[in-house]
Amino acid sequence: MAVLTADLDDILEDVFERVTQTRIFKNRDVLLPDYLPDKLPHRETQIRKVASVLAQALRGYRPNNLFIYGLTGTGKTAVVKLVVRKLVEKARERGIRLEIPIINTKRDDTPYRVLAKLIESLGLRVPATGIATAELYARFKKFLDKKGLLMIIVLDEIDYHVKKHGDDLLYKLTRINEELSRSKVSLVGITNDVNFTSWLDPRVKSSLGEEELVFPPYTADQLKDILRERAKTAFVEGALEDGVIELCAALAARENGDARKALDLLRISGEIAQREGSSKVTVAHVRKAWEQIEKDRVVEVVRSLPLHSKLLLYSILTLTKGERATYTGEVYKRYKELTAELGIETLTLRRVGDLISELDMLGIISTEVVSRGRRGMTRMITLESDPEAVRRGLLSDPMVAELAG
Ligand SMILES: Nc1ncnc2c1ncn2[C@@H]1O[C@H](COP(=O)(O)OP(=O)(O)OP(=O)(O)O)[C@@H](O)[C@H]1O
Ligand SMILES: [Mg+2]
Repeated sequence: MAVLTADLDDILEDVFERVTQTRIFKNRDVLLPDYLPDKLPHRETQIRKVASVLAQALRGYRPNNLFIYGLTGTGKTAVVKLVVRKLVEKARERGIRLEIPIINTKRDDTPYRVLAKLIESLGLRVPATGIATAELYARFKKFLDKKGLLMIIVLDEIDYHVKKHGDDLLYKLTRINEELSRSKVSLVGITNDVNFTSWLDPRVKSSLGEEELVFPPYTADQLKDILRERAKTAFVEGALEDGVIELCAALAARENGDARKALDLLRISGEIAQREGSSKVTVAHVRKAWEQIEKDRVVEVVRSLPLHSKLLLYSILTLTKGERATYTGEVYKRYKELTAELGIETLTLRRVGDLISELDMLGIISTEVVSRGRRGMTRMITLESDPEAVRRGLLSDPMVAELAG
């Protein structure tokens, strides 16, 4: 027993020693996704555009509505937050009554919560439930007009709201100025969904798009600048081996020029280096970090699939064992056995074909149409993701766990 305790002490001593001895980070938090830096390299054009549209507010005019589109991690939220922060400061200095609530409709995803946030931004409290949405909207309008101010409503990740609840609230907000006498409202909508506007009524679409702005993906060189700038405050000097920033930038550039991905990669590389007690972050750490991110992504994607997609994927996983290829017919047969075992409905072959295409689009599997001679065409299916990560994602579902167990 004494021996065991001594061993444990030794082990912990060793770990603590290594972790505290190595100084990789100066301030790790500046690499976290929510940190807002006060410099955004390579976004000058977008900052100018957002600022020039919204700056009308400083002259007391209602700014045009603004619609912002760009792929994930291209700096949309960061640019808008930065401009809003400065604009609000300027307005305060000049005694202009301006409110700019920023609402993330993925987080606050019901019309009720959006309206509650809007009312709260006017300094009033709203009960968590219990008021009809129409009544809440009426209250918002009344309070807003009473206050007599200019409000710029930023709806970030707006596609989440519209896909779940339609464009009703958006329609009302684009019309609200007609019913206000002392206040004015402008809208800023942000999305990374290319097809978002197809969800909108043409009137909402044209109103929201009074001004439009696109954020292009970052190139590898631009990501390098962004990472270098951030690394100055994040890491102790000399902690990054040559090539680390370059590799992070190159890998993230391949993923649609996503700055969030690049920063995550750099942070996780540093964390791995620290855990290993290394005094430097190396290119090998970046490769490990990349693998880890990729696996985590697969687990997450698989976990959030609907049940029937999970059953199909489970069929594919068990048929291929992550090594060989399988075919639609084989998968369908296995899938039918599984639904029978669980006593749930079986989807048609046609519907299953659609779900298989979706799995392909998500990059979890790949499919290829092949000829089976006189028996016609079929799809050959191969697993493209780490089988262990797929399994982990699947087993977090109790139904699948039941089949596996
Ligand atoms: N030009 C830049 N300079 C420094 N950091 C940046 C820059 N662009 C983006 N970032 C950082 O990258 C991360 C992602 O940016 P942001 O959240 O603005 O992306 P987004 O376009 O809103 O993506 P999504 O569509 O997924 O919401 C943030 O941590 C942000 O601070
Ligand atoms: Mg965003």
